[in-house]
Amino acid sequence: MNKPLRKAVLPVAGLGTRFLPATKAMAKEMLPVVDKPLIQYAVEEARAAGIEQFCLVTGRGKTALIDHFDHAYELEATLRERNKAETLRLLESTTISPGSIATVRQQVPLGLGHAIWCARAFIGDDPFAILLPDDMVLSDTPCLAQLAEAYRETGGNVVAVTEVPWEHTNRYGILDIGHDDGRLVEVKGLVEKPDPKDAPSNLSIIGRYVLLPHVLMALSRMDRGAGGEVQLTDAMAKMIGFTPFHGLRYEGKRFDCGDKIGYLEAQIAFALKRPDLAPQVREFLKKYPGDEV
Ligand code: UTP
Repeated sequence: MNKPLRKAVLPVAGLGTRFLPATKAMAKEMLPVVDKPLIQYAVEEARAAGIEQFCLVTGRGKTALIDHFDHAYELEATLRERNKAETLRLLESTTISPGSIATVRQQVPLGLGHAIWCARAFIGDDPFAILLPDDMVLSDTPCLAQLAEAYRETGGNVVAVTEVPWEHTNRYGILDIGHDDGRLVEVKGLVEKPDPKDAPSNLSIIGRYVLLPHVLMALSRMDRGAGGEVQLTDAMAKMIGFTPFHGLRYEGKRFDCGDKIGYLEAQIAFALKRPDLAPQVREFLKKYPGDEV
């Protein structure tokens, strides 16, 4: 029997250089899409997949991320005095039950693999999910819930994957593919940011993973990979052949919100999904058919 998936690690210690100057004093993961910060979407997606324990891997200047999931007593009292029941309800969705959220500090951003290794005490001997909050997926079934289902089916590591343009393979972790049933793909190998001419496929990992704790052993070696960083992809590659490893072609549309264009697209797409906003958004989009602003 597979151990149930109850834990999630959310690494949020990156520098967010692609969003400077916005991210000079504020975490990238606090950037809002419509009216919610990226980190809240990630936590809500994790909850919908049955996650009960959260660990944020944070760094310097990231306290707002933790405060976001705390009570805001003054604000709540003021809203209560003003009888703003509906607004108060919005705040309820941001609280996590006591003891269910832990934080660890990654003092130096040495890479995603290093960030996950920093959460080793939280992970212990359990399977765990990873959500990169700057990757958003708009889907009927939340992306992590799709992955959790695949984990129950296969009992091993599962990563969310999607085809990317061949010329972009050098931006992502790329799969070497074994058996492929169109939905689940057997992972034969993994390469971080391969040059398009060396890439074994154009199937790329996005920011959703369900991993077995064995990955920590490989991470503890602190091998440096692409860009001089401790790469999660390299550590995951070391589990291939020892534990089942699959890629899941998830249902949904992914937005890379760490990138300016991806972030702008997400604003529009998520607003169009909101019944309170969609008609107005559709109306204002008509105003920009060409280059004029
Ligand atoms: P990115 O590759 O998007 O890096 O990290 P970044 O530093 O956040 O952004 P840019 O490229 O400088 O603009 C993917 C995820 O991994 C986390 C980030 O916070 C983000 O959620 N991360 C990355 C860490 O927690 N620690 C690291 O050392 C690197």
